[in-house]
Amino acid sequence: MKKKVLVTGGCGFIGANFIRLLLTNQPEWQVINLDKLTYAGNLENLEDVADNPRYSFICDDICNQEQMDVLFREHAIDTVVHFAAESHVDRSITNPDAFIQTNVFGTFSLLEAARKAWLISEKKTVSQRRFLHVSTDEVYGSLGETGYFTEETAYDPRSPYSASKASSDHLVRSYYHTYGLPILITNCSNNYGPYQFPEKLIPLILNNALKGESLPVYGDGANIRDWLYVVDHCEAIVRVVEDGTVGQSYNIGGHNEKKNLEVVELLCTILDQKVGLLPSGRPRTKLITFVKDRLGHDRRYAIDANKIADQLGWTPRYTFEQGIEKTVDWYLANKKWMDAVIDGSYQQYYEKMYADR
Ligand code: NAD
Ligand code: DAU
Repeated sequence: MKKKVLVTGGCGFIGANFIRLLLTNQPEWQVINLDKLTYAGNLENLEDVADNPRYSFICDDICNQEQMDVLFREHAIDTVVHFAAESHVDRSITNPDAFIQTNVFGTFSLLEAARKAWLISEKKTVSQRRFLHVSTDEVYGSLGETGYFTEETAYDPRSPYSASKASSDHLVRSYYHTYGLPILITNCSNNYGPYQFPEKLIPLILNNALKGESLPVYGDGANIRDWLYVVDHCEAIVRVVEDGTVGQSYNIGGHNEKKNLEVVELLCTILDQKVGLLPSGRPRTKLITFVKDRLGHDRRYAIDANKIADQLGWTPRYTFEQGIEKTVDWYLANKKWMDAVIDGSYQQYYEKMYADR
């Protein structure tokens, strides 16, 4: 095997898509998925690849320093792709504790485990090691009507979530400057696609719209996000692992800015076409309800992805229209998954399974 990759948070939305991509496209990469299985992590997200001989799963918490040390000692890991995080901004506003724990302390514990294994125990091989930290464009704060986030934009996080991610980015970078840990950081814009937990805008709207429930749009609906299909993000991460310059950051984005209201209206129109109008005969846009705005709601995100395009030859493969079509079809074919993650029935099953061991 060319690489032994530790993927943290592989049972979440992007992690599961990433692992599936590796097992399909990287035949010489062995994958260990480490995930705590929080409300956002589901083994079902990888059910179809669970028996692949190049894949294994470990249920653990990245904050567990002793176990992270053991993991690095026992598995000769040479590459880390670190997704595990609390990822939902609204939850960070109501309950920031878990964000500081997982995003800051958890990242710190992984960095320490990598430092001990790669820089103390096996010094000479460090040039073949990589620690890729998956981060977000939210660390840069909020844009006005013009401009883009570049890798040089000053950090200005404005929610507990983005502040915890910014903190982890700083820690990761400090391990490069201080110890020479071979790190890479990616800062990506909003992802959408299969297996996204239905608390995030696109799957939440799809779920509510299918059930004929109201579609909450925060504030005036004019906040802008730069949407990227999840497979494009995963392919960009592979490019950075393979050829990124150690110590550097790469912005990843779709050049695809949309107002929230525009996205919600588009989803309504697609559903009306695919499954028919509401039983009342009305279009789904009638379900749109403007609700109280998110506290500290960032107005606009937009990524300048020229560095990764110029240096690593990555550009998105999917247009928004293609990606949204695939996403809607996936959710229509996986309504049971959506219901199970919403009512927590997978979680209750895992809790029993791991308690029985
Ligand atoms: P997600 O919430 O869907 O998944 C997070 C995963 O991490 C889950 O499987 C969860 O069980 C696991 N996890 C949480 N705490 C853990 C812990 N203490 N120990 C081990 N595992 C733990 O998140 P996502 O949307 O897939 O995001 C993945 C990463 O990508 C995050 O770091 C996020 O900040 C970043 N990111 C996300 C987006 C996006 O649009 N979703 C965009 C840019 C960057
Ligand atoms: O930009 C990258 C970030 O994108 C990631 O780092 C985060 O992990 C990810 O959750 C996402 O953050 P956002 O806050 O942008 O995503 P969310 O889907 O929660 O919201 C998208 C936009 O839609 C945002 O402007 C808030 C708005 N919104 C969201 C929800 C859930 C609504 O108007 N109504 C809603 O019900």
